[in-house]
Amino acid sequence: MLKVGRGAAVPPFMVMDVIAAANARQAQLGERGSVIRMEVGQPGTGAPAGAVAAAMAALRAGLPMGYTESLGRASLRARIARHYREWYQAGVDPARIAVTVGASGAFPLAFLAAFDAGDRVAMASPFYPPYVNILTSLGMQPVLIEAGPQTRFQPTVAALERLRPRPHGLIVASPCNPAGTMLHPEELAAIGAWCAAEGVRLISDEIYHGLHHESPIATAANIPGAVVINSFSKYFSMTGWRVGWMVLPEDLVRPVECLAQNHMISAPHIAQVAAEAAFDCGQELDANVARYRRSRDVLRAALPAAGIDLATPAEGAFYLWADVSRRSNDSREFCARLLAEADIAASPGVDFDRTRGARYVRFSYCGPEADMAEAARRIAAWTAG
Ligand SMILES: Cc1ncc(COP(=O)(O)O)c(C=O)c1O
Repeated sequence: MLKVGRGAAVPPFMVMDVIAAANARQAQLGERGSVIRMEVGQPGTGAPAGAVAAAMAALRAGLPMGYTESLGRASLRARIARHYREWYQAGVDPARIAVTVGASGAFPLAFLAAFDAGDRVAMASPFYPPYVNILTSLGMQPVLIEAGPQTRFQPTVAALERLRPRPHGLIVASPCNPAGTMLHPEELAAIGAWCAAEGVRLISDEIYHGLHHESPIATAANIPGAVVINSFSKYFSMTGWRVGWMVLPEDLVRPVECLAQNHMISAPHIAQVAAEAAFDCGQELDANVARYRRSRDVLRAALPAAGIDLATPAEGAFYLWADVSRRSNDSREFCARLLAEADIAASPGVDFDRTRGARYVRFSYCGPEADMAEAARRIAAWTAG
């Protein structure tokens, strides 16, 4: 028998399985109906017009699409640094920026640069499943901090204080997936200060910045030692272009550069050209955000009226973390019925929370506004019937 590596034991990212079930249901329905897609965390809109135009112009001009430097095109890195000035009034040296293959491509580089096999990396639960699955596949140990509605499912300094032994790293996400909640600026600052004092490497996933509604965003870019991970997939609406970035502390720049040279060489050249132009598409992108907010408000009213409680205030990202325990004690069975009987695809919470996920479902509301309004009507009819 040939050996199969430990990486082969990585669990599936279950949302992808729900997508397959929704596709199968749609094929079965054919012309007779349409499945409303609330399982995916990807904007239905494509890249903003200015980004597409820049990519097309580069191709027409015959710009050779070779490898770029592993840390990314200099002009994109400079534009990202400007973004920190414009959005956060934060000075960030472009030399600290690494352009990556989405946020997904950034995680292994960050984890390998910052941690060793066997190291413990903490995060709040519920969590984005690939954090745990990537860490595990690299031989690192995820440490889950069970967080509840009283802390908006976010970690707190008090919860971190209880961790014995101290972890080597901490991942935070704000706004987060799946709960849609945020670490408010003073909370992120307190966690950052705790990490710096305790020698814990902070990894801040800021991929949902820009998709926040009432509360202001804060970046960890200038928290000593912290790694920021971001992407063009969400606010910038460029999921399939596969481009993201990190803001690195100085000690990790060269290690990440060497890892990137070996692991990916560079992020796609054409996507980097488009991404740079996306920064100038604020009007179009902000219109998307306004649409998400309207959909959130419709669903935030409709779900509780249908006996599906909202576990969080849904401050950002484009997710509603719903407590379905008044209707079912098995979120997988609940989602299967919702798909079969109401033609709505949503993600069972078990992927995101291994102990309490059976009572939660994640609804993504980034689909077309008319679909989200129709989903509210279907859920009301389904639960009434
Ligand atoms: C919290 C979080 N981080 C990272 C990612 C990965 O994004 P990317 O498309 O940039 O790889 C996602 C995608 O859904 C996400 O929800």
